[in-house]
Amino acid sequence: MILKWFYNLPIRRKQLIALFTSEVISIVGLVGTGSLLIISGGRSLLVNQAKSELAVTEINYNIKINQMGFGFRGQSDNVAIISAAQQYSQFQKISPSLQQEVKKILQNEVKARKIEYATLVSQDFRIIANANRDRQGEIFNPQNLVTQVFRKPEQIKTSEIVSWEELTKENPPLPSGVAGKESLIRYTVTPVKDPQTRQVIGALISGDIVNQKLPIVTQTLDAQDGGYSAVYLQSSTGEFHLATAAIETTNSQQNPDKTTANSPYLLNFPLPNTSLLASAVTTNNQIVTERISLQGKTYTVAAKKLINYAGKPVAVLVRGTPETDLNNLLRDSLALQAAIAILTLLIDIGLAGLLGRAIARPVKHLTQVAKQFSQGKLTERAEVMSKDEIGELAVNFNNMAERLSLREQTIQEQMQQLQATLAELQETQTQLIQTEKMSSLGQMVAGIAHEINNPTSFICGNLSPLTNYVSDVFKLLHLYQKSYPETNAEINQLIQEIDLDYLQEDLPKLINSLKVGSDRIAEIVLSLRNFSRLDEAECKFADIHSGIDSTLMILNHRLKVQPHRCAIAVTKEYNNLPPVECYPGQLNQVLMNILSNAIDALEEVIETHSIQPQIQIRTQHITPEAIAIHIKDNALGIPETLLAKIFDPFFTTKPVGKGTGIGLSISYQIIVEKHQGELQCLSTPDKGTEFIIQIPITQKVKNSTENS
Ligand SMILES: Nc1ncnc2c1ncn2[C@@H]1O[C@H](COP(=O)(O)OP(=O)(O)OP(=O)(O)O)[C@@H](O)[C@H]1O
Ligand SMILES: [Mg+2]
Repeated sequence: MILKWFYNLPIRRKQLIALFTSEVISIVGLVGTGSLLIISGGRSLLVNQAKSELAVTEINYNIKINQMGFGFRGQSDNVAIISAAQQYSQFQKISPSLQQEVKKILQNEVKARKIEYATLVSQDFRIIANANRDRQGEIFNPQNLVTQVFRKPEQIKTSEIVSWEELTKENPPLPSGVAGKESLIRYTVTPVKDPQTRQVIGALISGDIVNQKLPIVTQTLDAQDGGYSAVYLQSSTGEFHLATAAIETTNSQQNPDKTTANSPYLLNFPLPNTSLLASAVTTNNQIVTERISLQGKTYTVAAKKLINYAGKPVAVLVRGTPETDLNNLLRDSLALQAAIAILTLLIDIGLAGLLGRAIARPVKHLTQVAKQFSQGKLTERAEVMSKDEIGELAVNFNNMAERLSLREQTIQEQMQQLQATLAELQETQTQLIQTEKMSSLGQMVAGIAHEINNPTSFICGNLSPLTNYVSDVFKLLHLYQKSYPETNAEINQLIQEIDLDYLQEDLPKLINSLKVGSDRIAEIVLSLRNFSRLDEAECKFADIHSGIDSTLMILNHRLKVQPHRCAIAVTKEYNNLPPVECYPGQLNQVLMNILSNAIDALEEVIETHSIQPQIQIRTQHITPEAIAIHIKDNALGIPETLLAKIFDPFFTTKPVGKGTGIGLSISYQIIVEKHQGELQCLSTPDKGTEFIIQIPITQKVKNSTENS
């Protein structure tokens, strides 16, 4: 479905979508993997950083122990301490001044080092002197450390848990928040040796409570530029208690811990849970890490257990490295990548536009040209915009278009030739038919004229002697009547029967009318011969009026009264015309055709309309070089739609058998082509039709058919 939608998209959109999608995929891929790499690389860096920072915390933690160890090693050589220990070991009573001196030394240590314990114990673990409450004679062997020193005379530095009970026995000044709880304590136990015998005669114990001792954590924060640092103790029951902790404050925070108002850090900030601590104590002396959210910020937190002298875990050192830098790096890199992505996308869109120009535009142009070409605009050609495949396509299209238009042109030419040939054929056919028709008519008319001419001239020739003979016979009759007035009854009866007087009077008239009749016949014969003009096939000067008259004569039988209609009136307006050089026979054909059409039209109209049918013939010498013949009827005229067709060969509106449709086409040819004249038809529907024949008086170029 999506594929189909994609296939149907315009090329330009396809490009844009493809480019855009691939770009987005690659950007997302790059940004994604880049970020993942940054995150995973950053995380492992952070873990390493947290681990190394934890080592700093441990160093800070141990500095104090080392300092205590160093100080008490010095004090173990102190004369007063040694003599007090010697005296005790030799069961001598220690003088109060010595006792006081040793206590003073121990108190100075406590004060100077800000520690809680400074105690000198004997071989039997009894306190010889201590810094706080006087505890001489009490057994003091914390975690059996003193036993260890007597067993193996080496200084011990260790962390242990000290109970509240034990603390109250010594009762040192304690930081607030320690009371009633177990505390983590850093011990050093230093052997005191007899200078002569090198025997261990006592032990100096220093103890520093870690709880609420801020420098351990704040120094780490100072050194590491913030973050989180903490020391947890694990109580004898296994629970974890915060010994000391500090975390960098956020800008909006002020230190809520009133007791340490000077600290720039938030103090005693606990971890949200102890799962990391639990895994730190169970792991075999290794640093464990976890990402933990503190104060709304994520920290990579590393933790490492601290074991006591007996090897049991007593505390966990914690260091939290903020991920701010990593997050900043990630944010910066994302911002950079986003900027690059946007830039790439913009470049992409620009490229898509360029590609669109380079591919889609030529394709679109080619498509439009092809469309117009297919709609018949064969001159359309594609613009070749480049030399690539599309350019090649355009060139091939143009070649194809060229060949197609050439072929189309050839077809057109062939069609025109065919049409011309057809027209020629039709014309020839028309001519043949008309020539045949007219020559048959002409021959018939000539034949009839000839046949009638013989008996007519025979009659005409005999009429004159007949008149003489009848006059002679009448003269003789008169002479008989005068010489023999008396006649018999038989003659008288015959005279009366034949009405001789009337006969004598009527016979000359009768002979005269015969003469008139035969003269008329002779005239008709002349007209027939005139019309056929078979003897006048060549171009010569002729009298137009006699041509019109002889044609009218031939058509006379159609013009006169018919049983079903009145006569058609012919009015003639002959103006002075010079002899006109023409083909008289052919001109008569034209007159005959036009007049026949007028009679046909009038006969048709008489049947339905009550009009006075008439044909007006007017001749005119229009210019010195030309004459015109107007033949006008008052029939129904020709509808405008048909006017353009009337000269077409075989165009007829008449029923089959009555009209062939060649009369006017042949007339047109005779006037226009044979005589270099003009044949016009003016027709007003319902009023009538007028044909105007114009021909030059002389034929300038002799027609080639003249002699044929
Ligand atoms: N005077 C006219 N009045 C009305 N219509 C005419 C007139 N003269 C010609 N026409 C029209 O022109 C057509 C063509 O005339 P044309 O003389 O060529 O052929 P036709 O008379 O029909 O047949 P024919 O070959 O026998 O002459 C006629 O059929 C007729 O419709
Ligand atoms: Mg006709």
